[in-house]
Amino acid sequence: MRTTVGIIGAGPAGLLLARLLHRAGVDCVVLEARDRAYVERRQRAGMLEQGSVDVLQECGAGDRLEQEGLIHSGFELRFEGRSHRVDLPSLTGGRTVTIYPQTEIVRDLIALQLTDGPPLLFGARVVAVEKADSAQPVVRFDLDGREQTLECDYVAGCDGSYGASRRALPADGVRLHTRTYPYSWLGVLADVAPSSDELVLAAHERGFALHSMRSPAVSRLYLQVPNGTDPKAWSDEAVWDELDVRLAAGSWRLDRGPVLAKSVTTMRSQVIEPMRHGRLLLAGDAAHIVPPSGAKGLNLALADVVTMARAFTHWHMSGSTALLDRYSENCLRRVWQAVYFSHEMTTLLHRAPDADAYDRRIQLTRLRRLTRPTAAAAEMAENYAGMPIV
Ligand code: FAD
Ligand code: DHB
Repeated sequence: MRTTVGIIGAGPAGLLLARLLHRAGVDCVVLEARDRAYVERRQRAGMLEQGSVDVLQECGAGDRLEQEGLIHSGFELRFEGRSHRVDLPSLTGGRTVTIYPQTEIVRDLIALQLTDGPPLLFGARVVAVEKADSAQPVVRFDLDGREQTLECDYVAGCDGSYGASRRALPADGVRLHTRTYPYSWLGVLADVAPSSDELVLAAHERGFALHSMRSPAVSRLYLQVPNGTDPKAWSDEAVWDELDVRLAAGSWRLDRGPVLAKSVTTMRSQVIEPMRHGRLLLAGDAAHIVPPSGAKGLNLALADVVTMARAFTHWHMSGSTALLDRYSENCLRRVWQAVYFSHEMTTLLHRAPDADAYDRRIQLTRLRRLTRPTAAAAEMAENYAGMPIV
């Protein structure tokens, strides 16, 4: 098989890239290791910056997002038993965010691609990317028990942090920056209407808790837990009890419902520099991971592929590799801004295992200055709402 851009991975990054390239007349093929049902059900992010919403709408994947997305103009910071609302429009010159689950974005993009798009092969597990530093890279993949090859002009590695793209990077010349935080998130999806119209981020002295949502009928909740926690070690009742304690504020009540899914995510940052090796360009989680406290992972993945699609389109139209050559540099500025913000939110809201009363006082002081319309609050709100994708 042969194509212009071989895309590895049908997560949000790979699917949006395929959509943008298809609309620009650039040939591509998407190889996805898992089956369609698995990819469409994988529970992950839920908060979209306005720039991400705009991109999905512009590429024709915005119909359901427009109807079902929940526009949020603020969120609550909760600590010491009190709630403090952060008003995004007044702090950012009018910006808001939209709650629309990653599962639905993936579903919308897959439906579009299967009716009007380039080939998308499910069950196609890439085993190697070869000759990335030549003019004709080759992707080797298994499909139906047979090894096959895809010859390409370029390869887009959109296959997450455990994919084949990272394994194709040379040990020298590419640097991996990494930070693992000493805590994880236990995430639960619950079949119950959200107890609050807006997201609630709680910095309790027993640890962080987050009340989020996926729709007017489904809640998404998170608890800080120690690294290595087995989700099965937490009964549903224990999860609700702990959420009650950490999210408590005045007369506010958390409604309980059947738990549909439970999983643990480690809080970590990783950045690969540069995000390119020869004709292999990385995007999304393949290139970088951020802890979810800033809700930036999905938004960064979409911003990367907008930049990448623009570079491929420019090359396709003009033969110039100028934008491809600047791809990594152009992405990394936004990536490090998101890594920094995610780090700030992570340390602002979590309790480190070795934290003492001094650390807690510093944390409360940081939190309090965010509850007034200060420069610090404006900076947090701007980062949370996100910068336009340029
Ligand atoms: P992915 O969504 O990981 O997609 C990669 C695709 O590549 C997958 O479909 C995978 O099956 C496929 N693949 C992998 N290896 C191969 C191979 N060898 N061959 C072919 N295909 C392959 N972000 C937030 O902003 N907020 C959150 O609340 C949040 N929660 C998260 C919870 C979890 C458990 C995880 C893991 C991530 C979370 N994130 C969150 C991060 C966000 O979901 C990711 O940043 C986003 O999925 C990145 O999209 P992507 O397309 O780069 O990668
Ligand atoms: C989610 C929302 C957030 O604002 C965040 O920081 C992390 C996760 C969510 O809805 O999954």
